[in-house]
Amino acid sequence: MPIMIAPTGMQKMAHPDGEYATTRAASAAGTIMTLSSWATSSVAEVASTGPGIRFFQLYVLKDRNVVAQLVRRAERAGFKAIVLTVDTPRLGRREADIKNRFALPPYLTLKNFEGLDLGKFDKTNDPGLTTYAAGQADQSLSWKDVKWLQTITTLPILVKGVLTAEDTRLAIQVGAAGIIVSNHGARQLDYVPATIMALEEVVKAAQGKVPVFLDGGVRRGTDVFKALALGASGVFIGRPVVFSLAAEGEAGVKKVLQMLRDEFELTMALSGCRSLKEITRNHIMTEWDRPWIAPRL
Ligand SMILES: Cc1cc2nc3c(=O)[nH]c(=O)nc-3n(C[C@H](O)[C@H](O)[C@H](O)COP(=O)(O)O)c2cc1C
Repeated sequence: MPIMIAPTGMQKMAHPDGEYATTRAASAAGTIMTLSSWATSSVAEVASTGPGIRFFQLYVLKDRNVVAQLVRRAERAGFKAIVLTVDTPRLGRREADIKNRFALPPYLTLKNFEGLDLGKFDKTNDPGLTTYAAGQADQSLSWKDVKWLQTITTLPILVKGVLTAEDTRLAIQVGAAGIIVSNHGARQLDYVPATIMALEEVVKAAQGKVPVFLDGGVRRGTDVFKALALGASGVFIGRPVVFSLAAEGEAGVKKVLQMLRDEFELTMALSGCRSLKEITRNHIMTEWDRPWIAPRL
């Protein structure tokens, strides 16, 4: 099942069962759940739902002691990898959030931080909590932090938020175990390329040394197929999970995973692919291969 769950924060805002529902749906589909640092359920709570493979998404915060404790908790809860988000040293300007006065409701908590000393941070009914949380991110984040992370954990580190060959080579140099091509759902910076456009460059630069994944805009089985044909080892979905969670909780997320799986399988069948290995670059065309399909202006 190459369709996995991208980290999205604060899932209990979408549905009271939040991350529990998403995790159960992921396990039932035999796929991987990535839990956000800003989750409204903790790593231990997610682990308590039963067996399944889970990754922990990490933001590097100013207080490295807190980061180390978050990582330790994830390890103890049996999480299998750290997904290090590198495209959010500062939060993008989210105009919808400003307009809607986005804030974590007072009855919810950022559970991974419970019991950790972040000063004002654990005042859970502070309406400015979200802004405060974002303010904890280390704006000086750099490649040396990936190295530092390896000194505190043996878990594989996937670097999330890469869009270029240059960054791919640097990520591999500093010990990344995998790359996630992502532009954070285009929520950080206007005019960044679509991830599907950046994918092939990253795959080529990775030279097969580490797996490359993609997130952003995967909405159909054909999108999954395109990503795999361009060399991705798998894809992650973000908004389809949050939307289906809001609509129908666990059953909704199960349904979305099943729909994508069915569509993807049908795409494989109609393209003559009997296994993931049989999906090749030759199964798709891009405007670069056939410029007359979509002439560039
Ligand atoms: C509501 C929401 C919350 C998100 N929270 C996080 C987060 O906590 N950590 C993170 O690394 N990415 C976060 N993302 C980005 C997603 O992991 C993913 O990169 C992005 O949504 C692209 O996938 P999509 O087009 O399928 O939504 C969030 C995205 C959304 C829409």
